[in-house]
Amino acid sequence: MATTEDITLHRGLSGVYFDRTETTFIDGKEGKLLYRGYNIHDLAGVSNFEETSYLLMYGELPTGAQLADFDARLKANRNIPSEVMGIIHAVKDDHPMSVLRTAVSAMSAFDPESEDNSSEATLRKGIRLTSQVPTIVMAHHNIRQGKEPVPPSETLSHAANFLYMMDGEEPTPETAALMDTDFVLHADHGSNASAFTARAVAGTNADLHDAVTAGIGALSGPSHGGAAENVMTMALEIGEAENAEQYVKDLLAGGGRVMGFGHRVYRAEDPRARHLREGVRKLSEEKGEPKWYGILESVQNAMAPYGRRGIHVNVDFFAGVIYYLNGIPHDLFVPIFAVGRIPGWTVQVIEQFEHNILIRPLLQYAGPEERSYKPITDR
Ligand code: SDX
Repeated sequence: MATTEDITLHRGLSGVYFDRTETTFIDGKEGKLLYRGYNIHDLAGVSNFEETSYLLMYGELPTGAQLADFDARLKANRNIPSEVMGIIHAVKDDHPMSVLRTAVSAMSAFDPESEDNSSEATLRKGIRLTSQVPTIVMAHHNIRQGKEPVPPSETLSHAANFLYMMDGEEPTPETAALMDTDFVLHADHGSNASAFTARAVAGTNADLHDAVTAGIGALSGPSHGGAAENVMTMALEIGEAENAEQYVKDLLAGGGRVMGFGHRVYRAEDPRARHLREGVRKLSEEKGEPKWYGILESVQNAMAPYGRRGIHVNVDFFAGVIYYLNGIPHDLFVPIFAVGRIPGWTVQVIEQFEHNILIRPLLQYAGPEERSYKPITDR
């Protein structure tokens, strides 16, 4: 009875085009990434997260006045309801990604437009979530330490405010700029697992909070967003650059994966990685801990032969060390990825809504042949 008709199975939907998008273009062979036609190399370090979020959400780079208005709307939505703070308190000992998933889900109860799936309302909700998610992440970080959450700044940039809410200390302009670049690099990336998940939820005409909650769940897995946390764990286990080659050899010999390497789409280097590589080099010098850049370089050298098989560094390889050097706890690394990705999830949910179709692929049946039911007395 197994499905025998002539079918081609695409496990993981690898290489399958399931819809069109006008948002992000990825050329995996060339290692090219465009947001609304603008190259990531032109945006990283020159644009900022607010401007890039506007570009993704509205499709065009903003004028000065448009950016000022958008920035004001982001700043005006940084607070979260006390009821959600209470929920964060109740689940404070869970992993930060689970707390984020729970809190975003709860936020729908306090969003007046939660059930409005129009493009305009979804965009407004996406802007609110873009500002509320950083507050949820850092409020939890303080609450789990028994501290009061740091109230969001009304003036600092998105990236600077995120770091400020960690401990009430304003970051240096350089530290804030590198965090901002990290958010720009993570803002969207086509139909990655979490964006696909969000689209599948939107495909049933559920709402943005449902889709983002599901996307957060997908992102939390180590094969996707969880890699940055695991790269830092790997770097700590390696300890010194001279240990890297043997560590990688042993890991691969045991069938393991080197975190921060490989990608379902890129067969050339992930174009985002270079913008964080330079950040790690400078930051590890500034912090007087150059060994971390040395360890990552040695891992890259040990993995060089895999380049011939299309296995190169991805965006997560350097991100984790940047967060570590900024004193951010490991288990906040994946939530940082989510902070950057809210605009991307929002715009992809809007695209799904605008030409909506239920996403329902097929499974090839390989189970038992049809058989008769046996009463329990006969088993
Ligand atoms: C992100 O999709 C996106 O766009 C995601 C993302 C985004 O912005 O949203 O770019 C962010 O998730 C980046 C990826 C972060 N994850 C990691 O760094 C985890 C480590 N990477 C691997 O688990 C893996 O590379 C994946 C999951 C990312 C992609 O795996 P695929 O496409 O399913 O490829 P595969 O598992 O079939 O591997 C193909 C071959 C295998 O060798 P063979 O069995 O054919 O001999 O490549 C090998 C794998 O063993 N391989 C690796 C490897 N990744 C693939 N070998 C060692 N180390 C690795 N990291």
